[in-house]
Amino acid sequence: MTRSNDALFEGHSRRVASMFGRIAGWYDFLNHFLSLGLDMYWRYRLVRFVRTGDTGRVLDLAAGTLDVAREIRRQKPDGAVLGLDLTLPMLRRGLGKLQRHGETQILPVGGDATTLPLPERSVDCITIAFGIRNIQPRSDAYAEMHRVLAPGGRVCILEFGSGRNRIWKGLYNVYLKTILPLTGRLISRDAEAYAYLAETIQAFPEARELAGELLEAGFTRVGYLPLQSGIVYLHVAEKAAEEKGTPPDC
Ligand SMILES: C[S@@+](CC[C@H](N)C(=O)[O-])C[C@H]1O[C@@H](n2cnc3c(N)ncnc32)[C@H](O)[C@@H]1O
Repeated sequence: MTRSNDALFEGHSRRVASMFGRIAGWYDFLNHFLSLGLDMYWRYRLVRFVRTGDTGRVLDLAAGTLDVAREIRRQKPDGAVLGLDLTLPMLRRGLGKLQRHGETQILPVGGDATTLPLPERSVDCITIAFGIRNIQPRSDAYAEMHRVLAPGGRVCILEFGSGRNRIWKGLYNVYLKTILPLTGRLISRDAEAYAYLAETIQAFPEARELAGELLEAGFTRVGYLPLQSGIVYLHVAEKAAEEKGTPPDC
């Protein structure tokens, strides 16, 4: 990768972090409001695919206000969760929720998904909800996920489908292009953030292409599942388990 590419991606991360920093206070409310509460069901479905193992740790990337991390703890009370995000004001909102609920097994960590501050093979499972769309380059994030996953570990991705597909006879696409950015702007008073949301959904690759990217990054057993007619997709990919050595002769 060239120096100018690095600078471009750094600039992108800074812009994304500043935007989420501005809307952190409205983020949860607008999520529930604009999705008519479906976002909570989608996170529940994501976490159903989480599989824990020997490390006892799950990493939630682009963890935001920590709703996925809390859902992981609800469904898998035995594991600890690291919730990593670029935007500290988002994590701070999440931390408030942890404190209110006396949750001590979720650790919020500031960091970038493209350079994870974790050793190789240190987590059993990685989740990322509505985060991969914001990360550039995605290939760096996939490489890091692959590095820190234990052999046989799993990545579970929840993301919008490509907004280029017509859904519900085009009604959803009209919502995406007009109602969503307008409502987001009126409530959060941030024109850029909700226009950005609509634009990135429309520019996002189709599920099949995303599956191809995961295979290219070295994952095996890649699959995906549409929810709500493909408004969102769940993607699951696994890192190959280690070959067991031939048992010694006795
Ligand atoms: C739409 S929010 C999703 C938050 C949360 N996962 C949820 O389900 O509500 C996207 C999050 O991705 C984070 N993000 C964007 N780029 C990132 C990166 N390179 N590394 C880590 N987090 C990133 C943003 O700071 C933001 O909190």
